[in-house]
Amino acid sequence: MYYDSDPRSANGTPGLPFNPFKALVAPRPIGWVTTLSASGTVNLAPYSYFQAVADSPDIVMFSATPGLVPSDKGPRFGSGRKDSESNAIATGEFVCNLVSYDLRHAMNETSAHLPNDESEVPRSGLEMVPSQRVKPPRVAAAPAALECVFTQSMAVQHRGGEHRYRMVFGEVVGIHINDEFIRDGKVDTAAMQILTRMGYDEYAVLEKAFSMARPDNDPMLSGALKR
Ligand SMILES: Cc1cc2nc3c(=O)[nH]c(=O)nc-3n(C[C@H](O)[C@H](O)[C@H](O)COP(=O)(O)O)c2cc1C
Repeated sequence: MYYDSDPRSANGTPGLPFNPFKALVAPRPIGWVTTLSASGTVNLAPYSYFQAVADSPDIVMFSATPGLVPSDKGPRFGSGRKDSESNAIATGEFVCNLVSYDLRHAMNETSAHLPNDESEVPRSGLEMVPSQRVKPPRVAAAPAALECVFTQSMAVQHRGGEHRYRMVFGEVVGIHINDEFIRDGKVDTAAMQILTRMGYDEYAVLEKAFSMARPDNDPMLSGALKR
């Protein structure tokens, strides 16, 4: 089948009742972002538009819509930005916690839309512990967490101008890994049972890994990648 995904297209019905895009660019890791508000409230929210975009120094990105506001017809996008984006930019720091399968319900709970001065943490029942290099705390039970210093934010562009999504980038300055998942000096990613996001309301768990050598000896890889 062919799905017409162009919102400007005049081709009539797109071919499916729901846009399949997010079900196909999947799975996406979830950045479970901790930030602090100006008054010090701990903010925690999941972002599946989250990725590593460069290494050495390591850079991650999450992408956010405007904040939601209530209306007669249900929540709609307001004029302000989401707390994770505003706090990361205002304070210059954030933490990206990874989510394991065991933490799926707590993660989901923290996606609730709460006022900026109300923390998602108490309702999730999660224990937060201090970070080393940045002020936002990390989720104690997360299999790993990346301490980040904000580097830039920018609007995503579409062909007609600015998208409603904005990207927030940060440099990773410290990495926490639960010791249980370190084997022979390497991270056993599959053992972490990382929760990932797909389309609709679907998730997947990353459970199986395999190795494959590259066909050539790219000097970049033999040095940088193995470090
Ligand atoms: C698994 C999952 C992934 C999400 N990914 C995103 C995302 O990539 N971008 C976004 O704007 N909202 C995303 N959301 C919704 C936010 O978590 C939600 O709007 C949250 O209230 C934002 O909180 P904040 O204002 O404290 O940052 C996601 C929700 C869930 C459950």
